[in-house]
Amino acid sequence: MRLSVIGCGYLGAVHAAAMASIGHDVVGIDVDEAKVTALRSGSAPFFEPGLPELLSEGVASGRLSFTTDMAAASGSSVHFLAVGTPQTAGAHAADLTYVNSAVEQLLPHLRPGDIVAGKSTVPVGTAARLAELIEPTGATLVWNPEFLREGWAVEDTIDPDRLVVGTGDASSRGARSTTDVIQTMKDVYHTAVAKDTPFIVTDYATAELVKVAANAFLATKISFINAMAEIAEATGADVTQLADAIGYDGRIGRRFLGAGLGFGGGCLPKDIRAFTARAEELGRAESVAFLREIDAINLRRRDRAVDLVVNALDGVVFQKKVAVLGAAFKPHSDDIRDSPALDVAARLKGLGADVVVTDPQALENAARVHPQLTYEPSLDETLRDADVVVLVTEWDEYRRQLTPEHAGSLVAQRVVVDGRNSYDPVAWRAAGWTYYGMGRP
Ligand code: UGA
Repeated sequence: MRLSVIGCGYLGAVHAAAMASIGHDVVGIDVDEAKVTALRSGSAPFFEPGLPELLSEGVASGRLSFTTDMAAASGSSVHFLAVGTPQTAGAHAADLTYVNSAVEQLLPHLRPGDIVAGKSTVPVGTAARLAELIEPTGATLVWNPEFLREGWAVEDTIDPDRLVVGTGDASSRGARSTTDVIQTMKDVYHTAVAKDTPFIVTDYATAELVKVAANAFLATKISFINAMAEIAEATGADVTQLADAIGYDGRIGRRFLGAGLGFGGGCLPKDIRAFTARAEELGRAESVAFLREIDAINLRRRDRAVDLVVNALDGVVFQKKVAVLGAAFKPHSDDIRDSPALDVAARLKGLGADVVVTDPQALENAARVHPQLTYEPSLDETLRDADVVVLVTEWDEYRRQLTPEHAGSLVAQRVVVDGRNSYDPVAWRAAGWTYYGMGRP
């Protein structure tokens, strides 16, 4: 099939490359010249494992191309909308500028029978509004939310847990029946469908809500365990053992019960805020009022990490060397949007510490946003003569490969604040370290 993907960021670039890899002819369209130039030459404009290989294969095969010209969408059977919906500056609601402008620019290129498939995360009600603009062209709008995780985006796109397609009111649609439209979406995702991946057909509102509900649930799970970490801190309990013990209950499950610095990134924080803003508009603020608490618990963990570092330095932070391990919001990503790691680093710098940050992938992005911090690609140089080591992003390089003995041979003082509860306190203490975890004694 011929497909177009509008918006080539973390979501769209992966979607375009993944769809080409399963045999479709795909054109990726983005307004950013530099991004398009990189993608066209088969190189990924951001770090995502497996993406460079997929891009270069796709481009070489002739099935994958990129352009800034929206006219290239003409002739595609399905047009995916994959532009960003960031948090509005100074407010909690999602900013729909990019979605609105993508649709407006796409309209003249739609033909009767085309499908527009929305993938961006949007406030419930958006699809119904966009359908009114799209359906007069004879094209059909479906809402097809994306559940990929950065770092596993290629795998999640090609082999998702489930596929969700929301459709509108058939009576308002010209050219195609719902059955026909759904069949086309199944043809798009033919490899996943062949594996019996659950394929759920809903209305627009449900499809939009599935996405935000999933992210709200994940955020709630993380903040729940971080709330338990706060109680553990007041009582001497160990939150990691608590998570293991409750996680064995199949109804609860251990995943996303990793207590520590909490969640960041371009999705969870802004999605729960946009959800509360939308619920307020719908007169249902109280239904998701708990998400404000989820957000607050999450942000308190960053304060806690900063306090631990200050206390570890006996309250005297000024000109102390703080080695910060990590800048990305999570491992296997160079994404620093709302990164808890960088937030902690910037606050410590603000307190007068000599902060040196290392990260395997995210230093360039971090330096653009926080030029006041010192960045060091070498882990050993970051650790050298440090007064305190702070683990904030649990890359394997810091979590598995770094031994307390090696780190101990480089630092000025053997003091570690483990913001991700990634180290074995027994091993680090045995090597002479003073160890502080998050919700661990
Ligand atoms: C999240 C969802 O997991 C995806 O399903 C969704 O598609 C995506 O948002 C999106 O809306 O686009 P992502 O932001 O890539 O994916 O990252 P996650 O793996 O969910 O991690 C989010 C944050 O939670 C990270 O900062 C991570 O360090 C933190 N986290 C995760 C914890 O603090 N504890 C945990 O146990 C797990």
